[in-house]
Amino acid sequence: GKVLVLHGPNLNLLGTRQPEIYGYETLDDVDSALREKAILAGWDIHCLQSNHEGELIDAIHTARLDGTVAIIINPAAYTHTSVAILDALNAFEGKVFEVHISNVHQRESFRHHSYVSLRADGVIAGLGTRGYRAALDAVIEATQPT
Ligand code: DQA
Repeated sequence: GKVLVLHGPNLNLLGTRQPEIYGYETLDDVDSALREKAILAGWDIHCLQSNHEGELIDAIHTARLDGTVAIIINPAAYTHTSVAILDALNAFEGKVFEVHISNVHQRESFRHHSYVSLRADGVIAGLGTRGYRAALDAVIEATQPT
């Protein structure tokens, strides 16, 4: 079983970018913890961060065909703008979990709407970086690794 973790724009700055909102954990810390958890549960995991919408879409297309059974995605600002990422996720047949580090509903109103939520099987917001681990737990518990 394979799970894909996608991080959208600016998340490469995690740990140094507005730490009062996003915390002090780096993206490497997040991905390392996810890898460890996945491997212990017998899952294959692939983590990718991109600042480019098309690169995220290409990764979703690859996931359609390579046996990926679930995608955990923090689309970052593309959450609120990207019909193209929504369309790509609609072409993917596995589970989709949307993660936001911050509680987007407590922030500016432009962050309250998510295109990706129209497709997501589950949404986690406001748990900090542990939201990614919670999403992976959901994948492990809810999905057969095959
Ligand atoms: C975010 C919330 C988005 O509104 C923002 O643009 C981000 C990160 C989060 O993880 O809280 O870049 O997705």
